[in-house]
Amino acid sequence: MTSSGDTSPVAAHHPQCPHDRAGALAARAPGAWPLLGHLPQLCARPLSFLGGLPRYGDLVEVRLGRRRGFVVCRPELARQVLADDRTFDRVGPLHERVRAAMGNGLATCAHADHARQRPMVQPAFRQDRVRAYAPLMRQEIAAVLDGWQDGHVVDVVDEMFSLTTAVAVRTLFSHGLDATSARVLRDSLDVFLRGSYARALLPNLDRLPLPANRRYAAALAHWRAEVSRIIDRHRRAGTDGSDLLSALLAARDEEGRALTEQELHDQVAVLVLAGAETTSATLAWALHLLARAPDERARLHAEADTVLAGRTATWDDVQRLEHTTRVVRETLRLLPPAWLLPRTAVRDTELAGRRIPAGSIVAYSPYVVHRRSDLHQDADRFRPDRWRRGADGATQVPRGSFLAFGSGSTRCLGEGFALTEAVLALASIAARWELVPVKGKVRAAPRSVLCPRTLPMRLHRRTGRPAQSPASTSEA
Ligand code: HEM
Repeated sequence: MTSSGDTSPVAAHHPQCPHDRAGALAARAPGAWPLLGHLPQLCARPLSFLGGLPRYGDLVEVRLGRRRGFVVCRPELARQVLADDRTFDRVGPLHERVRAAMGNGLATCAHADHARQRPMVQPAFRQDRVRAYAPLMRQEIAAVLDGWQDGHVVDVVDEMFSLTTAVAVRTLFSHGLDATSARVLRDSLDVFLRGSYARALLPNLDRLPLPANRRYAAALAHWRAEVSRIIDRHRRAGTDGSDLLSALLAARDEEGRALTEQELHDQVAVLVLAGAETTSATLAWALHLLARAPDERARLHAEADTVLAGRTATWDDVQRLEHTTRVVRETLRLLPPAWLLPRTAVRDTELAGRRIPAGSIVAYSPYVVHRRSDLHQDADRFRPDRWRRGADGATQVPRGSFLAFGSGSTRCLGEGFALTEAVLALASIAARWELVPVKGKVRAAPRSVLCPRTLPMRLHRRTGRPAQSPASTSEA
């Protein structure tokens, strides 16, 4: 990141987006390599490559080796794709690979299974359930913050991931996780999230006898075994009925059928996958952005002091943590963890006036859509106040342009859960700690969830005097 306030986690040039440019509805991205197409750019510098696409059109064709793909660059088009999940489905080799790895749960299943699964899982995310999970979130947040020591350097990526995995597992299974299970889950999820992006781009990677492939396979085996062990342990210990697993065990479809053993396993795996890294990336990016925005940081601390006075936040505080909520939303706009979401066209169709042959990959990128300068003033700047509601109740973020949680029938089920957790955690951190970046560059990791590779920060217990940020900290 530069001192000008650019928030791109890679050195990117984001063009002005001339959406009214004649004939620019559908276009082809330049710079395809022979045989490889745009794979080199998507592997080496995905964000700056994608961020540059709106300059060519609203729907931009890219080449993934010999395969054809389309990147959707306008929110209306993205919503159109997401609204038509019979045409643009989670099928094809790419999703088959994700399902083989993570199971056929709600966030990974195709349209045919989605219609049965969604109504069964949805009740577990009603607002009253999220409210019931909030005390568990609070306990886990307090446990992490109580372990911090003044002057120590922590990797914020690790800390936030440990926190959100613990919260995901505590809310799924009221008994929580022992340290060994937590480590196994964390390590295997890490290998999966890194490996799945590479495998989405390079489908034949699995066939090569590489140490990385052996590590990937071993991580998935550990993941599956650990999820089974956790479910078994939970069943043996019994439950008080308040956790997510109890809701899943009680769920019945229209014909009164419960989830099968395999479905239960897959839902649990997918919920930990969908919930943990996304929320931890949001928190890590928020702390990163705040470290470079002293005024916003001061406002966050002031709000935390007024509302919390040094204690850990609770559900009842969330309404009053308005600025904290705006910081979380603005973080999700600039650095959306779910940054590239693919679909496959299951039949020949048309989009933005362009014929889309069956089998084409059509991906939408909240990262691209959220940074359009024709939709957002100072699109690359961290400005939480753009989320402030005016007298008419509207914010400066155009309606329908925020896609961090997706849209349509597959819209994130955990949105309320994630926002509650992120606001509770961020406000509680701000109430007690100031985090100062340790000199170094911050880069996004090229993986399925957009997340900093590492984010070392020094902890300063707040005493009223602001800690100094090293002026030389920069971002690649
Ligand atoms: C800031 C955090 C989060 C972000 C940015 C996020 C983003 C998303 C997005 C973009 C989708 C749509 C995927 C698609 O269209 O294929 C999605 C789906 C989903 N998310 Fe989240 N998510 C977050 C947190 C969570 C949490 C905490 C949970 C659960 C505890 C969760 C559970 C789900 C589920 C179950 C789906 C699948 C919905 C369906 O297919 O019907 N998410 N999420």
